[in-house]
Amino acid sequence: MLKYISMNEDNIFDIVKTQMEIFQSECGYFQYNYALKCGKDYWKYWLVYDDNNIVAITGLYSDFEITETNSIWLGWFGVRPKYRKQKIGTKVLKFTIDEAYKLTEKYPIKYFRLYTSIDENATAQLLYKKVMDFCEEYNNPNDFNYNNTCRIWTKLLFNDKKVKWNNKYLGLKEISEQEKKYEKKFLELEK
Ligand SMILES: CC(C)(COP(=O)(O)OP(=O)(O)OC[C@H]1O[C@@H](n2cnc3c(N)ncnc32)[C@H](O)[C@@H]1OP(=O)(O)O)[C@@H](O)C(=O)NCCC(=O)NCCS
Repeated sequence: MLKYISMNEDNIFDIVKTQMEIFQSECGYFQYNYALKCGKDYWKYWLVYDDNNIVAITGLYSDFEITETNSIWLGWFGVRPKYRKQKIGTKVLKFTIDEAYKLTEKYPIKYFRLYTSIDENATAQLLYKKVMDFCEEYNNPNDFNYNNTCRIWTKLLFNDKKVKWNNKYLGLKEISEQEKKYEKKFLELEK
């Protein structure tokens, strides 16, 4: 059975190392560190274990005021390569959606959303097609958009009408700059 361990000061290095194994040219150290310090209980990440092995990671966050967007986002979701194709990704995604749903008691969240690249994360699209409700292009002209391959998938947490993200600026440009900067910082801290 999978065990979900919340990220904390003691396992942040484990989660960043796992994230960098799954997403090799990206480093989420900044976001993970921010989650520990920001005091926002909707900004959180998990390490997923099967027995004593870390098999996957997942998370929830929102860069925006939830009262304005009614949305919570999937963050750093992935399965380590050697544990793929065993339905772990499906279970971890559904766990994260359940956690998003729990937050609706406290916050006006209606939509569980994620952004992805149909090129860089091609396999993930097959999973999203099964689990999520609808997909839209993200091509805000002022933002980074993975060479026009960026998509936003949404899951409705309630039996509600479909409300798209509608290309509202996501700040992917700033996020990718942070990832480059913090990769160096993380590698130095690890020494
Ligand atoms: C996407 C990812 C999380 C899937 O994890 P996983 O544990 O292998 O997924 P599952 O075993 O639950 O598979 C779910 C569905 O995805 C599809 N799928 C997964 N891997 C596949 C593959 N190699 N080839 C074809 N279809 C595949 C299948 O439709 C599968 O459903 P099925 O088993 O009923 O046919 C994993 O490949 C991964 O971590 N990729 C790199 C990181 C990433 O892209 N994260 C998402 C960022 S947006």
